[in-house]
Amino acid sequence: MKTYEDLAGDGGSNIISQVVSQREKLRNRLDKIKHKVALMSGKGGVGKSSITANIAACLADRGHSVGILDADLNGPSIGHLLGVGNDQKLVIDDDGIDAGEGAMGIKIMSMDMLLSGPDTPVMWTEDAGATSTWVSTMESTALRELLADTNWGELDYLLIDMPPGSDRIDNIRDLIPELAGVVEITIPSQLSQHIVSKSITKNNKMGVPIIGLIENMATYVCPHCDKEGKLFEGQDAEKLSSQKGINYIGKIPFDTRVSRPTDSGTLFYAENKDSITGKAIASTVDTIIKFIENKSN
Ligand SMILES: Nc1ncnc2c1ncn2[C@@H]1O[C@H](COP(=O)(O)OP(=O)(O)OP(=O)(O)O)[C@@H](O)[C@H]1O
Ligand SMILES: [Mg+2]
Repeated sequence: MKTYEDLAGDGGSNIISQVVSQREKLRNRLDKIKHKVALMSGKGGVGKSSITANIAACLADRGHSVGILDADLNGPSIGHLLGVGNDQKLVIDDDGIDAGEGAMGIKIMSMDMLLSGPDTPVMWTEDAGATSTWVSTMESTALRELLADTNWGELDYLLIDMPPGSDRIDNIRDLIPELAGVVEITIPSQLSQHIVSKSITKNNKMGVPIIGLIENMATYVCPHCDKEGKLFEGQDAEKLSSQKGINYIGKIPFDTRVSRPTDSGTLFYAENKDSITGKAIASTVDTIIKFIENKSN
């Protein structure tokens, strides 16, 4: 039988040194990445992943080295958007797993790449019979491992595509205390703004720096004549930004070409940078870069 003295240490499991070594590994990886930015929204389906992928494309187009961590463990989509599936061979050695490489040389790590087949879901509960507390613990552990075990190499930017909701930002902040900031994304609908408003309040309370608010799918751009019209009813999200005291990054119009699959190994931004939506993405990137530059001055 182990005594209290045994358990007050690590009970012989060596767990403390394992945690310390994983933290060191994580730190070494993150030290090679200049800027880390998370893209999030309290609301699902507002375009977090699509915007993340296209912001990455714009940064890559400007000559930056970029990676995306797909932090949406249950509904990963970054691999799909960048043309990286679980058929891409994983390079695993003592130092961890090499990040995958998608369209425009963008590095990625996503749960999708680690699953056995394209239809395989992530099942947290099957073997563990877990309660929601356990699921949450398993998810945060998986996120830490995904970050610590991925060999990103040297990067200018790591973008983190967050799952819907405001919970996981606590984990990310804990794992990446030097996070440059978060970009909040909403669509113009009242419901979306109501939910995103809570996410902004939470981030403000936690002291998470907010780069600004993007209003996605704000207008519809006709691909034939480039005319713009409103897509949703609802007050302008600019008002929400000023109520919350955060920067309004701007509108990104709806463009049917954003949802086209990327078999060609490219992304909407790369092929349509002169479209209204392409220019809006570029302007978002300008704001993110300016925010980071101001912060480091
Ligand atoms: N500006 C846009 N123009 C056209 N389609 C868009 C635009 N933004 C996003 N979409 C489409 O909207 C759908 C939802 O986008 P996406 O998956 O990026 O949202 P999400 O916020 O990441 O969703 P989830 O909460 O499930 O992670 C996708 O079909 C995507 O192609
Ligand atoms: Mg998504």
